[in-house]
Amino acid sequence: MTWQPVVKLSEIREDEIYPANVDGVDLILLRHEGGVSAYLDSCPHEGAQLSFGDREGDVLICAKHLWEFDVKSGEHISRVRRPQHDLKKAPVRVVGEQVEVDVSGLA
Ligand code: FES
Repeated sequence: MTWQPVVKLSEIREDEIYPANVDGVDLILLRHEGGVSAYLDSCPHEGAQLSFGDREGDVLICAKHLWEFDVKSGEHISRVRRPQHDLKKAPVRVVGEQVEVDVSGLA
């Protein structure tokens, strides 16, 4: 694992889509009651930037064609379920107040 510090936990609001670039990889960080999840900032449908999407509670909505994803798991949860189109996830850990991610599996 190659952990890299990204942001302090208190700087991410629970209702926002927090964009970050780590080692040249564009990510979104989503805070939720279970902690923080990090995903590639690219929709599995046609690659739109998820950082321009919307968030309604625990649902992330891509701005381009409104596909929906579970904030915590990254699963595609639109009416027609497409598991092959789940979000690409990066491991996250929180050390003290510091949120760290490992993007080595996404590059
Ligand atoms: S590119 Fe995201 S739903 Fe189509």
